[in-house]
Amino acid sequence: MVRFWLQYEPILRMSDVYELEQKYLVNGLYKTADELLQIKMKSYENLEESETQSKKPQIFIDQLFKRRSEFSYEEIKDECMTVIAAGFDTIAITMSFIVLILAMHQDVQEKAFQELQHVFNSNDEDVDEEKISQLTYLDLVIKETMRFWPTAPFFARLVTEDIEVGKLFKSNETKIFVTLGSHVVPAKSIILVPVNKIHRNKDYWGDDADEFKPERFNSESFRNVPTYAYVPFAKGPRNCIGGNYAMKAMKIALSYFLRNYKVTTDLKVEDITFELVITARIIQGCKVKIMKRVSPSL
Ligand code: HEM
Repeated sequence: MVRFWLQYEPILRMSDVYELEQKYLVNGLYKTADELLQIKMKSYENLEESETQSKKPQIFIDQLFKRRSEFSYEEIKDECMTVIAAGFDTIAITMSFIVLILAMHQDVQEKAFQELQHVFNSNDEDVDEEKISQLTYLDLVIKETMRFWPTAPFFARLVTEDIEVGKLFKSNETKIFVTLGSHVVPAKSIILVPVNKIHRNKDYWGDDADEFKPERFNSESFRNVPTYAYVPFAKGPRNCIGGNYAMKAMKIALSYFLRNYKVTTDLKVEDITFELVITARIIQGCKVKIMKRVSPSL
């Protein structure tokens, strides 16, 4: 269900979504972030110029403060808020989808657990870059969940010049998709790219597009899937800047969680319906039973 009317600001302002946004984002999250930024700024004020010019890789906020003369405090705050707003909710929703889908597919969960057993020596061993790179099956699970239930089910783009679009067909010789022009989308239109539909299109993904199969990302047929048929982080110059970070963050969190807990659910894939505002929400809720794994070590 998409509430398109919420894209129109005067209507959005009268809605329950806006009220919630004000309560949790503006008064809650934004206020906390502002307080943390003030502390950070004070710590920078006490540093000598040479100390702020460290060559070591720095987190986003440090990079902004390092270039303090180029940005006002308000600009730094706005940039931080954008990253917080764009990064937290999306990761939290995607993680909840992954946990639910693993609860629905016990065989996949078991395989992911087997991989964790193989990679880690104990259920509280720390995760590092090396371990993350070995979690290849978990990588497939995350990718497939984002195909199956994309967190950002659509994104909008402003058309800057008339573009001709038409039916897509697949050339047997080249195995690429070609556009036959037959309609014009006029400049200044706003188009919605339906990620959730593209990700389930059988022309791109095959007859099993509606099935949850992590292995598909490793298969021979995946080579034939066009690049723009998989866009959980959008594509192009305004795509997600946090995609790699998000993948790592999710792998780290899941590697701890799945080593220690097993999840089950009474929900089935066919029970699930979504509310689509900006991100997708499962109307039934991500209801899972969480059980501590009994083995003392892996
Ligand atoms: C699973 C997690 C995430 C998903 C599914 C996701 C998805 C997306 C999508 C689809 C867009 C394009 C939106 C549009 O064009 O309308 C986007 C943009 C963006 N994302 Fe993410 N994102 C995730 C995590 C993150 C994280 C962790 C960060 C920051 C650390 C982040 C920062 C941003 C920013 C700043 C933009 C705007 C880029 C621009 O307009 O140039 N995202 N994200």
